Amino acid sequence: RWPEKHWAATCEGAGGRAEELDRPLTRADVLTDWNPSMTDNSASFSTTFSLVTPQRPPPPPIPPLSTLLPAGMLCEPEHILPTQARLAQIVEMIHVASLLHDDVIDVSPLRRGAPSAPAQFGSKLSVLAGDFLLGRASAALSRLGETEVVELIASVITNLVEGEVLQMRSVLAPEQTASRVTRETWNTYMHKTYLKTASLMAKGARAAVVLGGAQEGELWKEVAYAYGRNIGLAFQLVDDVLDYESSEKTLGKPGGADLKLGLATAPALFAWEENEAMGDLIERRFSGDGDVEMARDIVRQSRALQRTRELAQQHTDKARDVLQHLPPSQARDALEVLAEKVVRRDH
Ligand code: FPP
Ligand code: MG
Ligand code: MG
Repeated sequence: RWPEKHWAATCEGAGGRAEELDRPLTRADVLTDWNPSMTDNSASFSTTFSLVTPQRPPPPPIPPLSTLLPAGMLCEPEHILPTQARLAQIVEMIHVASLLHDDVIDVSPLRRGAPSAPAQFGSKLSVLAGDFLLGRASAALSRLGETEVVELIASVITNLVEGEVLQMRSVLAPEQTASRVTRETWNTYMHKTYLKTASLMAKGARAAVVLGGAQEGELWKEVAYAYGRNIGLAFQLVDDVLDYESSEKTLGKPGGADLKLGLATAPALFAWEENEAMGDLIERRFSGDGDVEMARDIVRQSRALQRTRELAQQHTDKARDVLQHLPPSQARDALEVLAEKVVRRDH
């Protein structure tokens, strides 16, 4: 709401003046001083009127929800606040920024079936494009006017970088490889997966609930966070499976990229539990002649891909379980469908 300003104006003949009043005018004020006096060639009168003067222009309108929600989404648009729709746009901008940077780091030629930004425009422009999106996203975030949401989403950007660095460290510090898969190996992998993928979904979902008006101590925020975290973990686990199973044609990005980048994801770790030979390959980051092919064979001959899918399904089940804390609604049904889609996707 903008402060209203009220003015009284007097007009006499060709002259006139206006002064600011400290109260709104009523209908009775208007024309009360109407006092025309006519002479042969002039008329004078005085009157008062009220103006509402905006101090600054209102923010630009938010695009209609029909342009934001994929067709077939079950949520009723009127149940989504404009700030929540804006949050979704911000989260998507951060996601795209992270992919622009990721394709530089991974030297990936393809994204979503088209040449990646670095392949098309070069690394420098891709990094700058990502930075630009982060700048725009930050400005939009601050305009939501909710400090808790600003903090949550800002921390996601830090998490994305932390996840990427943790992943890089596993490639750059081979001496840290243990002789077998340990609990710590798995903890590090899952933590990295949370940071690089699940944090955006967990904190994005929590932020949406904050914008919905959830009060401190209410369960909603925890439900949203746990739901987002679990579908995020499931999403990345399936991504790691698809990197072994699918081709460039289905994925719209190169398959088999992780091993070539020296990355031991969940399928490689499960395979290592069944076959010690995987340990040596992981230790040298699949850098020897034929290592990538050998690692792929070991994974395919083991139950690793199935076990990774099972782990993803466990997280999907947790996401669906936590939804039971919410009252039944179309929105809750939509979240259940989404969780299932994440784990069943093939691209
Ligand atoms: C895709 O993973 C990449 C991510 C999930 C996060 C990338 C994050 C950064 C590059 C940190 C910097 C980001 C910002 C916003 C400051 P992937 O390479 O496993 O998946 P892909 O196969 O889709 O490329
Ligand atoms: Mg990457
Ligand atoms: Mg990548």
